Amino acid sequence: MTRPSSTNVFDYTQDRFACDGVPLGDVAAAVGTPCYVYGARVVRERYRALDEAFGAVPHALHYALKANSTMGVVRLVRSLGAQVDANSGGEIELALRAGYAPSQVVFTGVGKTPAELEQAVRLGVRTINAESPGELARIDEIARARGARARVALRVNPDIDARSHPHISTGLRRNKFGVALESAFDVCLDAARRPGLHLVGLHAHIGSQITTLEPLAGAAATLAALARRLAGAGVQVEHLDLGGGLGVSYDGGPVPDVAAYVSALVEATRDAGCLLILEPGRWLVAPAGVLLATVVDVKVHPGGRRFVVLDAGMTDLLRPALYSAFHRIVPLQRDGRPDVACDVVGPVCESSDTFGVDRQLPDPAPGDRVAVLDTGAYGAVMASNYNRRVTPPEVLVDGGRWEIIRRRQTLDDMLACES
Ligand SMILES: Cc1ncc(COP(=O)(O)O)c(C=O)c1O
Repeated sequence: MTRPSSTNVFDYTQDRFACDGVPLGDVAAAVGTPCYVYGARVVRERYRALDEAFGAVPHALHYALKANSTMGVVRLVRSLGAQVDANSGGEIELALRAGYAPSQVVFTGVGKTPAELEQAVRLGVRTINAESPGELARIDEIARARGARARVALRVNPDIDARSHPHISTGLRRNKFGVALESAFDVCLDAARRPGLHLVGLHAHIGSQITTLEPLAGAAATLAALARRLAGAGVQVEHLDLGGGLGVSYDGGPVPDVAAYVSALVEATRDAGCLLILEPGRWLVAPAGVLLATVVDVKVHPGGRRFVVLDAGMTDLLRPALYSAFHRIVPLQRDGRPDVACDVVGPVCESSDTFGVDRQLPDPAPGDRVAVLDTGAYGAVMASNYNRRVTPPEVLVDGGRWEIIRRRQTLDDMLACES
């Protein structure tokens, strides 16, 4: 276990919180708040660390678009050499528009519609990660009707506890994902016999924000054992897709080191002789993002709590309301005020619209600005228009310069779909 490998890209310069040397107070003043800011250097350094941890072991990294699919971020990830994991027809289309070829896309998803399956087969994506025998039969039918053979992998549910938050654990029998391990062998044999299918891989993704390596290594070993058993029956798969899931440190505490993670996976799958695919999302981009916000009110209930109300809320960053997720919150300007205990909340009409309880911040006043840290993954992508709030802009800082990669939504944008 080590401290997070990231980088001091976000840090104070002369008491001003900055990203790669760019004071974030200046960005907030220019763009307004709430606003997401991403540091390209963080993504670059983390991608390189993950890629290099494999050494000479054959592998492919398919960035999980669901974590952050803003076009500017996807283009950045593509420039580093990553391929992609798409979870919907919309994400496939986004990948193509970002410059990806279909052969660089794996398509995962628990409820792919007929239209999405048609799209994936017609395009010829690298692999469709199939969720069930029924879905395999549907893909087979679509492919045969087109005179094609679709590349598929079977998503296996290994019944392994990821020991993460229940809402983001996906590898237990009680979760809706994949095919139960005890049926997987027979389902693979059936898939291998179908003329419209080419069974090229096995897939498992047991959850997200996983901070112990045993479950991840256990799932990898399970797939490797299944691949060996299939090879014994004459069905050789090309790859094992081990999903994403590696956690990050939201509270600054220790998390598994990326090199230890990769070596655990490589070790667990060594004798299967397959290419390894990973679908990292959170680990690559979470520490690359911060959400900037402005204090709009401070109120103290008599003998009770001090509420610091921000202009950012659960519509901008849902994770605290959805998963009770913890994010550090820091001031953009340090000026020597003493810390006070406060609850940092948003403006939305829900008590769950709370970013932090009992936090220490330098005696906040209206107009002060703060950054909510490690919000590069599952932040902007989950933004909503609840309370008729517009979605926030996103800024990318690269090489000491910044640009808006997504502008703030307007009320007209929001209403454009309505009659
Ligand atoms: C199938 C699949 N692959 C990859 C990921 C990315 O996971 P993470 O962001 O934890 O790396 C997810 C997210 O839960 C997923 O569902």
